[in-house]
Amino acid sequence: MKVSVIGTGYVGLVTATCFAFLGHDVSCLDINPERIELLKKGNIPIYEPYLEDLLAICKTNDNYPKFSTDSKEVISHGEFIFIAVGTPPKENGEANLSYLESAARSIGQYLSDGAIVINKSTVPVGSGNWVAMLVENGIASRATANSNTATATKVNFAVASNPEFLREGCAIADSLYPDRIVIGTDDELTANKLKSLYQKLSSQSFTAPDFCPRPSNYKESQLIATDITSAEMIKYSANAFLASKISFANQIANICDLVGADVNQVMNGIGTDSRIGHKFLNAGIGWGGSCFGKDIDALINIAREYGYDPEILKAAKTVNYRQRDLVIKRLQEQMKIIKGKKIALLGLAFKPNTDDLRDAPSLDLARSLIKLGAMVRACDPVAIEHCKKQNPDIEIYYYEDPYEMAAGVDAIVLVTEWNEYINLDTTKLKSLMAGNIFIDGRNQYSPSQLKEKGFIYIGMGRH
Ligand SMILES: NC(=O)c1ccc[n+]([C@@H]2O[C@H](COP(=O)([O-])OP(=O)(O)OC[C@H]3O[C@@H](n4cnc5c(N)ncnc54)[C@H](O)[C@@H]3O)[C@@H](O)[C@H]2O)c1
Repeated sequence: MKVSVIGTGYVGLVTATCFAFLGHDVSCLDINPERIELLKKGNIPIYEPYLEDLLAICKTNDNYPKFSTDSKEVISHGEFIFIAVGTPPKENGEANLSYLESAARSIGQYLSDGAIVINKSTVPVGSGNWVAMLVENGIASRATANSNTATATKVNFAVASNPEFLREGCAIADSLYPDRIVIGTDDELTANKLKSLYQKLSSQSFTAPDFCPRPSNYKESQLIATDITSAEMIKYSANAFLASKISFANQIANICDLVGADVNQVMNGIGTDSRIGHKFLNAGIGWGGSCFGKDIDALINIAREYGYDPEILKAAKTVNYRQRDLVIKRLQEQMKIIKGKKIALLGLAFKPNTDDLRDAPSLDLARSLIKLGAMVRACDPVAIEHCKKQNPDIEIYYYEDPYEMAAGVDAIVLVTEWNEYINLDTTKLKSLMAGNIFIDGRNQYSPSQLKEKGFIYIGMGRH
């Protein structure tokens, strides 16, 4: 089937690659010419494990996705046109829909008769209707441009919502073996067409790639058909729930600190309850990334538009961002004076296995520490170049090697739980440092072992 993907970021590129891997004929559009040039040459502009390998299979199968900046070429190609452009937050927390708007207008200008326009971007409730209106306007503007109303008004199309649940860092596995595929549309024909597009994936009738095997207990992915509005709500509600779950763990961690309990033991104790589950109960510096903060904000704004005050969502946000300040507070408690101290951050990316720095706790920590007069060092296996480019205003001293970074520092903070950083030789680390403070922002190390090695160990909720 012919698939067009608008936007080649983390979601668009992974979606396009997976559809091509499954045998569909995929054409991708981006307004960023540098990105398209890289992709045309076979270079990948983002770090996402196995993406390169999956694209290599597409190449071998002679089904490499096409990449272009030409809206007409890409949009007119698709029977299915996926919108996967960014919906970043505005200052006031609302979703910035300018990219979505411009994509929808272009779609209206060039889409083929009978095409389905699918919102994969995370968009506020009601965006399905709004996109339909913009596409219609685009179609109408063709008539003016061609002075051929008859041709333009004949273009039929449908709009659907197909929210994306992939996680950066394991996006290929999440896309090939999804927990569920949500198809939101208000008409049955569109739902059936989308189900047939996803048939191979939902029935798992494809050969799994060696590098990303099908999980042993995985049979097929659940297809959930809903109306458009419910599909849009599902995405926001899922992210709001996950973010709140982590914030809950962090709130409990702070109480553990006060009463002298260990939050890791507590979360293990409650996670074994099958109604609760172990996932997303890790206390620490809290969540970041491109989705949780912005999606919670957007949902809060949606509720407010209807005069409703969503207390739990607001609290989840407050608790989360306070965790970042807590790291500074703990450092101040130990060092008293931060000015002139050398502090090293293990990890920059907002989570392991990605180079994404959007809303990364590392950046807030670095800014706060520099403001207090510290010299900040940081290392990350893949995000250093992005960080330098995106944050030239933050004076961070970058290191490839964590041990080199540790030489002469007063304190180390584990910010991102990359595999490389949760298995460090702590004896060596301690011998290189000038000081002995270890803030375990992800509760990965054993407090007793680090204390034995001469560290002042500070976890989050592990006093
Ligand atoms: N990143 C994630 O983990 C994730 C997961 C689920 C859902 N989402 C949602 O998916 C959407 C995309 O997220 P992302 O992380 O891939 O964003 P991104 O910023 O990585 O990529 C967006 C891409 O769209 C391009 N673009 C913008 N306007 C365009 C236009 N008019 N035409 C063509 N290309 C255009 C940009 O140049 C960019 O390359 C967002 O709504 C996000 O909330 C993201």
